[in-house]
Amino acid sequence: MSAQAQVRRKTVTKIRSAKGKDALVCLTAYSAPIAALVDEVSDLILVGDSTGMVCHGLENTVPVTLDMMILHGQAVMRGSQRAVVVVDMPFGSYEESPEIAYRNASRIMQETGCTAIKLEGGAHMAETIAFLVKRGIPVMAHIGLTPQAVHAMGGYKTSGRCRTEWAEVEKDALAIAEAGAFSVVLEGMAEPLAAKLTGLIDIPTIGIGASAHCDGQILVTDDLLGLTPRVPSFVKKYADLDGVIRDAVTQYATEVKDRSFPALEHTYALKKEA
Ligand code: KIV
Repeated sequence: MSAQAQVRRKTVTKIRSAKGKDALVCLTAYSAPIAALVDEVSDLILVGDSTGMVCHGLENTVPVTLDMMILHGQAVMRGSQRAVVVVDMPFGSYEESPEIAYRNASRIMQETGCTAIKLEGGAHMAETIAFLVKRGIPVMAHIGLTPQAVHAMGGYKTSGRCRTEWAEVEKDALAIAEAGAFSVVLEGMAEPLAAKLTGLIDIPTIGIGASAHCDGQILVTDDLLGLTPRVPSFVKKYADLDGVIRDAVTQYATEVKDRSFPALEHTYALKKEA
């Protein structure tokens, strides 16, 4: 038997039971090495379809495919041991019918080994969420600013900044909680509305551009590391890795040109002959 202690991965039950307790730490990851780093501090790792912009240089998340999400999901599962891993269902893979959503969600779960899936939408997705949950697929919901609706909404629109919008968003939150989602991402939402929803529903709310009163927070890891050129105003940059990388590759280029790299210690000498 391996001397290494077996690490048990957290479960969605554990996430759900954190409602109203310690704040849940959530981060995105798309690769094994970043997953290994964020796993040390995270309750939940999201393999977000934000990978479309962050890793693939796409304009938005709409062109992201199921195959892309599965590849990233597999890498994140290999890199992490502790956190619940949630894989985003990409645009077009779940909206048509609960049955199609089930087929694609089960493929994601079988081929990645992830814990749960996430999909965007409120009351209109409740039937699909209930269908998946009843058949053994844990679902994280996502309401407020839903990036996959970028074309339908004519851009990225915050929600709930006028009180007249609140009733609709409250209906969404109640419907998905009732349908059996184990948690919900509240994105780009007026702070008092996000705080109110957190008190209104019995599943953990995970805020991004929402409220410190949410049951947990999530950020795109590349954004907080300073690796993405344009970030929304709700992002706090905890590092400037962009600058660190630029300095390192500039120094490398200088040393290649002036032939100070590779030095002798970076080369192979001949073996001593017997
Ligand atoms: O795709 C993503 O990274 C997300 C988070 C921003 C919540 O959905």
